[in-house]
Amino acid sequence: MLEIVVCVSGGGTNLQALIDAVEDGRVANVRIKGVISNNRNARALERAGRHGISSCCISPKDYESRELFNEAFLRQMISWNPDLIVLAGFLVAIPEQMVREFADRIINIHPSLIPSFCGVGYYGLKVHEAVLKRGVKVTGATVHFVDEGMDTGRIISQKAVSVEEGDTPEILQRRVMEQAEWILLPEAVHGIADGRIAYGGKRRQAE
Ligand code: GAR
Repeated sequence: MLEIVVCVSGGGTNLQALIDAVEDGRVANVRIKGVISNNRNARALERAGRHGISSCCISPKDYESRELFNEAFLRQMISWNPDLIVLAGFLVAIPEQMVREFADRIINIHPSLIPSFCGVGYYGLKVHEAVLKRGVKVTGATVHFVDEGMDTGRIISQKAVSVEEGDTPEILQRRVMEQAEWILLPEAVHGIADGRIAYGGKRRQAE
């Protein structure tokens, strides 16, 4: 059984896609052990609650410094001790210490075809605004491992989505979610759980 913790910041539709896939068996041998949000008002927290999944809010705003936030975030993660951390619309940079502690055990979904429209400043709707501004005809989503950089880790999977005439950032965001993100993320977790996708390996249980 692969135990995962999902980190979220907002709507939580990717979290919902994962919950649904676990509940209906498309993602087998996976348990969502907990959900961490940096935003107390995230709808994602309600989604977790509705499905009986433990959750908590750890926000940088509640700490005097980024270091103190990073420590609290890492402490919570270590106490849950997941095999895999899934960033599903989590808009806070992962502390370097967590990347080291969970090397090759953190994956992220990004709403573009990396290496386009990614890196610092490209998140959520901003990605789709930039796509429309540049006028590209194809965009998509990427699932990748998280390393110390921003959207630079090893790519696991990608799916292309067309940009259509008359798209607004919101319409394009929805199409990328429906046609790519909500499919790719559960598939990646399934692939890791069943051993098709190599990852950092299961965490050792405390003695
Ligand atoms: C998703 O589109 C996700 O790919 C994006 O935020 C949205 C969250 O939606 N993530 C990033 O931009 C990370 N750089 P959700 O809360 O409904 O899943």
